[in-house]
Amino acid sequence: MEIDWKQLQIEAVSAMKSAYAPYSKFPVGAAALVSDGRIISGCNVENASYGLTLCAECGLVSSLIATGGGRLVAFLCVDLAENFLMPCGRCRQLLHEHGGATLQLMTDSGIKPLSELLPWAFGPDELANRLG
Ligand code: THU
Repeated sequence: MEIDWKQLQIEAVSAMKSAYAPYSKFPVGAAALVSDGRIISGCNVENASYGLTLCAECGLVSSLIATGGGRLVAFLCVDLAENFLMPCGRCRQLLHEHGGATLQLMTDSGIKPLSELLPWAFGPDELANRLG
């Protein structure tokens, strides 16, 4: 499947501009290509109760499911300067659920599979194997 990384970056930057980040002042935008070809995005949404902050990836995953589901094929996120950002640990787990080990991520060091960012991951397969 052809991945238009430039378009993903444009969508992520656009989402980042909608971020609600009055506390950290660190807006984040995320965008992903889905297996059916659509592009989805999300931005971080903070809260006066700081720990309740929703990362941009949370919004992206909500959008994935709300707009018909599918598998994440390619993903990137950006900061205010429009530079690529590494997803936080919790969000790598969120991405793993919906993209798996082969999900491609754009980083400052090039395109990496999620398996490199989240090795030895726990995921749906482990549950399936152990629950029978
Ligand atoms: N943030 C994200 O949205 N995604 C990440 O993967 C890293 C961190 C947000 C959360 C918080 O609103 C701000 O960046 C600073 O941590």
